[in-house]
Amino acid sequence: MNKIPNFLIPYFRTNHAGETGAVFIYKGILAISKNKDIIEFSKRHLQTESDHLKIITEILPEKHHSKLVFLWKILGFITGFFPALCGDKFIYATIFAVESFVEEHYQDQINLISKDKKYEEIKHLIKKLMDDEVDHKNEAHEKFKNLNFFQRFWSTVVRKGSSFAVKVSMVV
Ligand SMILES: [Fe+2]
Ligand SMILES: [Fe+2]
Repeated sequence: MNKIPNFLIPYFRTNHAGETGAVFIYKGILAISKNKDIIEFSKRHLQTESDHLKIITEILPEKHHSKLVFLWKILGFITGFFPALCGDKFIYATIFAVESFVEEHYQDQINLISKDKKYEEIKHLIKKLMDDEVDHKNEAHEKFKNLNFFQRFWSTVVRKGSSFAVKVSMVV
């Protein structure tokens, strides 16, 4: 893998923060859920997110990691643990909300570099990550038809929270 160009470093800092958060979302779910389907779903996704995190950790030098990794871990854990207290549909709604956001975030990065042939390799890497997130999103979406007020409200909180976390980790 080539070095990431400087202008992409803030984005990769957010990707690293986000994949860290994702790992901890599933840890949060697995810390409390007793549902067999949820446990299977979460273990499988946790494996994918750990692979993503490993890939990004390998290409993003440590000095560029977010200074707030501890916070992304805590917030990720809560983002899994809290809905797991509230019920299965809350969990699937959470994953759907997070992954819809992440899909757009990765797509933005692809758009940013897609015109330049020299970024072909990085583009493929981001696309691979994004395709996994889309699978996660679709899998979660199959598990619910419609959401009640509280589930919709929580999904909005998760989306806004993800967007805020990206803004912060672009900088620090
Ligand atoms: Fe991921
Ligand atoms: Fe994912």
